[in-house]
Amino acid sequence: MKKGFIFDLDGVIVDTAKYHYLAWKKLANQLGFDFTKEQNELFKGVSRKRCLEILLEIGNRKATQEEFDTWMVEKNIDYLAYIKNMDASEILPDVPKILQFLKERNIPIALGSASKNAQPILEKVGLLHYFDTIVDGNNVTKAKPDPEVFLLAAKQLGVKPEDCVVFEDAVAGVEAANRAEMISIGIGDKNVLTKAKYNFNDFTQIDTYFVQELINR
Ligand code: G6P
Ligand code: MG
Repeated sequence: MKKGFIFDLDGVIVDTAKYHYLAWKKLANQLGFDFTKEQNELFKGVSRKRCLEILLEIGNRKATQEEFDTWMVEKNIDYLAYIKNMDASEILPDVPKILQFLKERNIPIALGSASKNAQPILEKVGLLHYFDTIVDGNNVTKAKPDPEVFLLAAKQLGVKPEDCVVFEDAVAGVEAANRAEMISIGIGDKNVLTKAKYNFNDFTQIDTYFVQELINR
């Protein structure tokens, strides 16, 4: 059966969580409160709009619609400044090894991300050519844990959902993959990603025999 592989972006392919954190922290400080790295964990896999809602809850701040929209734009301007100079050195270890392995075997590859900045990031780090399709925050209306992003990616790859494998670092992302009835692979702390079918700290722990086994089943 034809298999498809779907990769989340932030925290799976590149460590952009640190830049999202800096941009959200700057906004929080500007609004008069602090934002910690622990709180930033809640933002993983979560849409920009939902992140701002959570940030305002943390700071106990209300916002008019106009303020809300302005802060969304300001946060993204700051984030874009942080990622401006990203290059291949920011690809997480052994990600290209797995992408190359799949590509050599003509296995379709998709990106499934909540980010609206996904494509420029893949271009900057030089990985865009590996992807047969990109489904990101610009194409979906329902955020993870809703399975929409992964179901659309499977459809665009022409692969049945149950024949797709998803790499995810966020709890919401693992849940979305499970709800899509795909094979979820948690990248990160297995005590956090408890619902993933398989867990690895990072791609250095994933050998190509395991990937081949996923392709064969
Ligand atoms: C990813 C990140 C989230 C981020 C979201 C939207 O899922 O893990 O932290 O909020 O994308 O990103 P964007 O680049 O559109 O602001
Ligand atoms: Mg992620």
